[in-house]
Amino acid sequence: MEREAPNKPTEADKKLQDELRASGDIPAHIAIIMDGNGRWAKQRSLPRVAGHRQGVSSVRDIVEACGQLGVEYLTLYAFSTENWNRPMDEVSTLMRLLLSSLSDETERLNKNNVHLTAIGDIKKLPIEVQEKLAESMSITQNNTGLTLNLALSYSGRWEIMEAVKEIAGKVQRGEITLDEINESLLSNNLTTAGMPEPDLLIRTGGEYRVSNFMLWQLAYSELYISESYWPEFDRAHLYEAIRDYQSRERRFGLVSEQVRRRSNGGEKSLATKIYETITGA
Ligand code: FPP
Repeated sequence: MEREAPNKPTEADKKLQDELRASGDIPAHIAIIMDGNGRWAKQRSLPRVAGHRQGVSSVRDIVEACGQLGVEYLTLYAFSTENWNRPMDEVSTLMRLLLSSLSDETERLNKNNVHLTAIGDIKKLPIEVQEKLAESMSITQNNTGLTLNLALSYSGRWEIMEAVKEIAGKVQRGEITLDEINESLLSNNLTTAGMPEPDLLIRTGGEYRVSNFMLWQLAYSELYISESYWPEFDRAHLYEAIRDYQSRERRFGLVSEQVRRRSNGGEKSLATKIYETITGA
């Protein structure tokens, strides 16, 4: 597919983005639990699906803003393993919405240099969704901007269980020994292998839960809870979350003193330097 010029931020928005880049680190990986679609709809006496539909507009705005800001990875919790237990008509509406969003948005993603990936038990999705997803991923596979990672039929426990099965199989077949099992091996057997862990987890809808999302990867992520429902969460809310993130001191289990010593000098990111302190590398 021929790629058109990407959408540009407005002048006012560009100024805000420049200010954010100047005021601190832009998180390399942002993960979002998009909650509150149902409550947004209920507040307006609309069916729940109207909230999901409006939620797609928020997805569009946040993806575009993340790409313009230079965020490298954005993981969106779009459908959890537990969501299969919702009423059948809501599940099928969500699947239809996913299908139509992939059809409608792939061109825009491509134009904005976004690389689409997915994590989760993808083979459980309806075949048409699987096919459309594969097509969108293939169209965008060479894009070098933001990686938009959709968590679909995903849960953290499912993913860890799958990794454990994979590793146990290797031990059973004599390919590795028990002593070779370490954190890095487990990480490399998760669906997010090769991605940095999220620096920032945003949850909309005002609830303080992780809801079985990226349980391994969130170990040292900064958490930001927004009271706004997902359909009303736009780039202004995202900038606020990043500003809040920039005000945090990430200690990775160390004390302030050690973090300050590590953060002085050198080209490596603070997270890398801290990791080296922890592992003795
Ligand atoms: C949670 O809100 C949201 C979901 C289960 C679905 C999220 C899906 C979208 C935003 C649309 C499709 C996404 C993409 C990537 C195209 P909820 O229904 O649990 O809200 P509630 O807590 O208010 O009931």
